[in-house]
Amino acid sequence: MSIAAQDTAIVEEIMRWKRDRNALILAHNYERPEVQDIADILGDSLALARAAVDTDADVIVLCGVHFMAETAAILNPRKTVLLPDSEAGCSLADSITVDQLRAWKAEHPGAIVVSYVNTSAEVKAESDYCCTSANAVQIVQSIPEDQEILFCPDMFLGSYVKRMTGRENLHIWMGECHVHAGIAPTDVDDVMKTYPNAQLLVHPECGCSTSSMYLLAEGLLPKDNTHVLSTSGMLKHAKESPAKEFVVATEVGIIHQMERQNPEKRFIPANRKAVCPFMKMITLPKVLDALVNLKTVITVPEDTAMKARQALDRMVAIG
Ligand code: 13P
Ligand code: SF4
Repeated sequence: MSIAAQDTAIVEEIMRWKRDRNALILAHNYERPEVQDIADILGDSLALARAAVDTDADVIVLCGVHFMAETAAILNPRKTVLLPDSEAGCSLADSITVDQLRAWKAEHPGAIVVSYVNTSAEVKAESDYCCTSANAVQIVQSIPEDQEILFCPDMFLGSYVKRMTGRENLHIWMGECHVHAGIAPTDVDDVMKTYPNAQLLVHPECGCSTSSMYLLAEGLLPKDNTHVLSTSGMLKHAKESPAKEFVVATEVGIIHQMERQNPEKRFIPANRKAVCPFMKMITLPKVLDALVNLKTVITVPEDTAMKARQALDRMVAIG
């Protein structure tokens, strides 16, 4: 059987099991193209968290990484949440432990903790607010101006939020995602030289985001052509913009959806090597296996979930 025929056969099986299990398939914008194509809902971290709350399905298959499945399990504990590969982690979530966060809080008594959703359930349980790249600025803006804030774990997103809100009392944890941090300012410079008329779409987790924000503020990058956005924000912008060329500074998996939605436009990755190995662990055979054998079920102990839910509820409500 050809690979295409094998894929078709697996997709048919997945759809049959999905119906039998009354399951919902959620996929992140960085997933493999063939996994994106079978999703009921494809989105950024915020959209997937909201979809996990809103569903009537009995089973949620989370085609993404571990913290996303944990988030779904915390927000909707009555559902069975499956992660098709239990090893699909996140280097950014690993960049702060709950003990590190507790020690940081002890150094700043009274500070409010805003954690990016890319964190473990234990870190969320020690946080006052969670946020995603789509609403981090709005969440920080919703906190009284004189309130000290600890922002973790992503330093590039933290710097972006600090610049956008102008808050001096926002302390940033020095964590990073190895995929986004690897997209350097020089990568963007080089590609923009080749495509000087392209729109530049930058994810705030990127190593180039701080320099892009600086260049933007200094007037060295055209304001109308540079946009710092979450992954779904990038997809929306690509669809609505009349521009024909876009340089995309984020994980390259998103380009599949951009091309699908805009066949007449051109999308150029800022760095072709920006591939998240964790997102790519999810394959069609693993999705089928997850549905057939109900694995791997992701659960969070209720005492941790209860505390984490408060921070996540605030995230889902804002933006
Ligand atoms: P968003 O899709 O929420 O922008 O997040 C990007 C990301 O790196 C997820 O791990
Ligand atoms: Fe984590 Fe980075 Fe992969 Fe997103 S791209 S899941 S932040 S390692």
